[in-house]
Amino acid sequence: MINFAHRGASNYYPENTLLSLKEGIKTGANGLEIDVHKTKDNKLVVIHDEDIERTFKGKGLVKDMTLEELRSFKCRNKNFENNIECKIPTLVEVLELIKDTNIILNIELKTDEIHYEGIERDVIELVNRYGLKKQIILSSFNHESIRICKEIDSEFETGLLYYAPIENVIQYAKEVGANAIHPDLRLVSEELIKEANKNNIKVNIYTVNSPIYMRKLIKAGANGLFTDYPDLLNEIINEK
Ligand code: G3P
Ligand code: CA
Repeated sequence: MINFAHRGASNYYPENTLLSLKEGIKTGANGLEIDVHKTKDNKLVVIHDEDIERTFKGKGLVKDMTLEELRSFKCRNKNFENNIECKIPTLVEVLELIKDTNIILNIELKTDEIHYEGIERDVIELVNRYGLKKQIILSSFNHESIRICKEIDSEFETGLLYYAPIENVIQYAKEVGANAIHPDLRLVSEELIKEANKNNIKVNIYTVNSPIYMRKLIKAGANGLFTDYPDLLNEIINEK
């Protein structure tokens, strides 16, 4: 069972920051989930939204700013605004964090609103330069991005993200070339998990913050859960 700290330990620390990711690991996560976009100067950065304003004290789209510009913004959460580990991280920094560990890193390609030219290739080349392919899952709500990833390097594990029902989703995942489905919690049933397992498709579910669902889904055979509370999930995984 992979305990993915969703955007890091994001219930406690500013999401998608190095601090949040490190704290996720400290509290027992064996997986991390991050969101990746591309800057104006073609650098891969870790942030959820296309626009920086919700999480940082600034305005504008990631795609319209250079990495240097983006790094100048303070995080919006007052308790962490001067924390050096709460700037917008690069994907390189996150790869540095997980290398020499057993952490599984789910890189979500945020290509559903804006399609960043060549982002799939950029991510794959960077991960391969680090030799970290075996620790990575590439996922996206844009299923074309998954197809592209598989075309570039079929050895990467991929996850099909979705928030609305998809007919015959297991078959569809296979057609797209996904190794796993990453459904919204509301779309999961025990039967779906069973069927996926039978078909050699993994099931990683987001965003599971309730202990009741954590227990249910672990029992049902989910492969991984994305949670903002990796500490709580860790406790539940370890209870007997
Ligand atoms: O990858 C699971 C989850 O992160 C997808 O939704 O909106 O939190 O990126 P979101
Ligand atoms: Ca995400």
